Amino acid sequence: MGAKQNAGGNFNAVAPIYDFLAFLVFGRKLQQAQLTWLNRIPTGATVLLVGGGTGWLLQQLLTRCQPKRVVYLETSSQMLARASQRLLRQSVIGTVEFRLGDETSLTDQEPFDVVLTPFVLDLFPESFLQKSFVPRLYSVLKPGGLWLVTDFVPTTIGWQRALLWTMIRFFRLTAGIKIQQLANWQQVLATASLTVREQRSHLKGMVAADVWVR
Ligand SMILES: C[S@@+](CC[C@H](N)C(=O)[O-])C[C@H]1O[C@@H](n2cnc3c(N)ncnc32)[C@H](O)[C@@H]1O
Repeated sequence: MGAKQNAGGNFNAVAPIYDFLAFLVFGRKLQQAQLTWLNRIPTGATVLLVGGGTGWLLQQLLTRCQPKRVVYLETSSQMLARASQRLLRQSVIGTVEFRLGDETSLTDQEPFDVVLTPFVLDLFPESFLQKSFVPRLYSVLKPGGLWLVTDFVPTTIGWQRALLWTMIRFFRLTAGIKIQQLANWQQVLATASLTVREQRSHLKGMVAADVWVR
């Protein structure tokens, strides 16, 4: 992965402090939002977890949902290392493939029942989501499969806009993400022939936790 430019930036430098920073700004609220629809994942599912960071959600997924198999796809080697160390430390049982790479490493030969993207769609420009990222993940999701998204959504509320502006600038500087503003990812998913089944707002509407169905 090393030299390849990822549209979603490079989180290696920020990996050691990512969870601490998220906790400092949002407490446990971002984690709580990610738990919203985990109970919709059927037992024995094959799950693709994209951009799971240091692995907190992976641990929850394994203990709460008993998936048959999980592919943990991460572009940051530092994040991936932390996630695998966390599993070892916690002795969580499950079949997990830790894969260093991005969505282009996925083939239609490995279809998934469930795809999870926790705070990942917010990294990309809308045109990239539309033309590349969403079609790629759509193609590996089985018909009837679930796509659980938790992410920031565009907002008109002043303090939320200021906070989002600050976060985007921070990750432009530290991780090299390219966006200037949040994409309307809900619209992108809807135009990609996915149907929203369940939605819940968190953080006074700043974060959405959605279940989309192919
Ligand atoms: C904003 S962080 C969120 C981390 C974690 N989901 C959380 O909420 O704590 C985004 C994560 O997505 C990863 N990432 C970025 N682009 C990616 C891609 N194309 N495929 C897989 N992972 C990606 C980054 O390395 C980073 O760990």
